[in-house]
Amino acid sequence: MTYSGASSRTLSGEISEEAAGREYTLKGWVMHFRDHGGLIFIDLRDYSGIIQVVFDENEKNESFKSAKKLKNEYVISVTGVVRRRPAGTENSNLKTGNLEILAASVSILNTCETLPFQIDEETDVNELTRLKYRYLDLRSKRLRENIIFRSDFAHAVRDFLGKKGFYDIETPFLTKSTPEGSRDFLVPSRLNQGHFYALPQSPQLFKQILMVSGFERYYQIVRCFRDEDLRADRQPEFTQLDMEMSFVEMKDVIRLSEELFESIFKKVLGAELATPFRVLDYDEAMNTYGSDKPDTRFNLLIANLSDIFKDSSMNLFRDTLSKGGVIKSICLPGGYDIVSRKDIDELLAVVKDFGGKGLAWTKVSRDGSLEGGISKFINAGEKNSLLTKTGGKPGDIIFFQADSNKTSNNVLGRLRLYLAKKYNLIPGEKLDMLWVVNFPLFEYSEEEKRIVSVHHPFTAPAMNDLKYLETEPLSVKSESYDLVLNGEEIGGGSLRIHDASLQERIFKILSISPEDAKVKFGFLLDALSFGAPPHGGIAFGIDRILMLLRNEHSIRDVIAFPKTQKAYCPLSEAPSGVTEAQLKELGIRLIKKD
Ligand code: AMO
Repeated sequence: MTYSGASSRTLSGEISEEAAGREYTLKGWVMHFRDHGGLIFIDLRDYSGIIQVVFDENEKNESFKSAKKLKNEYVISVTGVVRRRPAGTENSNLKTGNLEILAASVSILNTCETLPFQIDEETDVNELTRLKYRYLDLRSKRLRENIIFRSDFAHAVRDFLGKKGFYDIETPFLTKSTPEGSRDFLVPSRLNQGHFYALPQSPQLFKQILMVSGFERYYQIVRCFRDEDLRADRQPEFTQLDMEMSFVEMKDVIRLSEELFESIFKKVLGAELATPFRVLDYDEAMNTYGSDKPDTRFNLLIANLSDIFKDSSMNLFRDTLSKGGVIKSICLPGGYDIVSRKDIDELLAVVKDFGGKGLAWTKVSRDGSLEGGISKFINAGEKNSLLTKTGGKPGDIIFFQADSNKTSNNVLGRLRLYLAKKYNLIPGEKLDMLWVVNFPLFEYSEEEKRIVSVHHPFTAPAMNDLKYLETEPLSVKSESYDLVLNGEEIGGGSLRIHDASLQERIFKILSISPEDAKVKFGFLLDALSFGAPPHGGIAFGIDRILMLLRNEHSIRDVIAFPKTQKAYCPLSEAPSGVTEAQLKELGIRLIKKD
């Protein structure tokens, strides 16, 4: 049997002006059923778009009578002639808005129950209901377009990387813990009772092994699984564009990534992306924006005022400096008028939530003098330096943090974002893409009371810093890079360690014993000892990128079947209980919760 002679279907969204006068049969869903007495109108929707269909009582056919039975979301096949809409009734919101079909016949292919919510209507139906009936919500214009955009995006990625000689290689889902550092999702093994697979947090170890295998250029659009606390930009399963390359330096990965984005932007947005992207040093990002994923679409920059206040009459400032802390600030332009006493109380609570001890402030009045807050502790010399350093002008307000450098940066970085949102300082239409580089290799974890990797243990240290590895590990930088779009981390990667002895030194600093390393990553370490080439790579968070490009607030809106903040799928009702028999087969007994 062959289907090669099958005629292609005519699609609603593709009917053009030239089709006027011709007869077509269209199939799709009834949208907006409107009964105007002798005339019935529907919008017929299929995946390509929408066209208006008219059923006229005066036409000598059965279609008007049949149309009386139609309801929203019925599935129909309708035959009729395309005609121009009468002048004044065109709909400029529709691609086919100048046209309509005058129905000759209609048949109902399927009916539809009463809808739990109206499709395409932005009512306040709660998200749980929308997710339970996800197939209905996916019929809406916004979600349908998001999902189609996602598909176009994936095509553009594959197209570019295919041309650049990358191989698309799949890696296992049933595997061992990977080193990204979140909690794993575990899958019990029936054949090896008492043993568990971990769903991969990323294909990190396998992609490195593919480099040892000699593939040199790997990519995969791949699902990753992380059991972490969820937020609007996090899902327990999410999709990465994961890449790895052999014989590359950092600048090669960065350039290739920029070319990739240039090409995607051109294809899916029809937009020119300005490259190369801005590159920010990690220290600069932290000291100026208080974040390693700075949103640079607006200013509100952090200024270091420690020098200015070293002889301050304020005990708090002097004490902080004598303990090795800093005095830092951000200046909110126009804040004099818009920030009330009540707002300041609210900001104080917000700052405490961010981990700050308090919030000092001063306003700059119309005549340029300082007013309110800590103004009485600031002398004339300090005032001049303060205004120069912060760029403070009459009509502004300046907020201060006196604390350790880390806490001041963190609190002011978060306050910066809070103020920008509260006072609408973020230009919505702007896309700001930048690299953050020169991350530290390690950080000290108060929780674990040991040095941990900032990225993962296979990240290469900056070669110039190797000599300090054991003596000053916390000052060692890494060969890693993050890509940031509008204050969201959309990608991260590094050059990897491919030398077994260097890897051993790193494990030692991380307090990972050789035995532990063998248990956790033995297969990668073995592979590295069999002629591993120098290599590096990167992974991009596709859901986050799509969320930003589609101007959505949650990654759930660019995923066909997302989970709630509680990692629950209201559609399939996963996760769910399993039978005693299934558990027995796996050798698992559940502990009853009290
Ligand atoms: P990393 O852990 O930085 O690196 O992840 C890469 C990118 O994946 C996205 N991302 C997420 N998106 C949605 N939900 C989540 N829970 C989530 N977690 C991460 C982010 C992030 O930048 N193996 C390394 C990459 C490498 O070194 O090559 C890795 O996974 O956009």
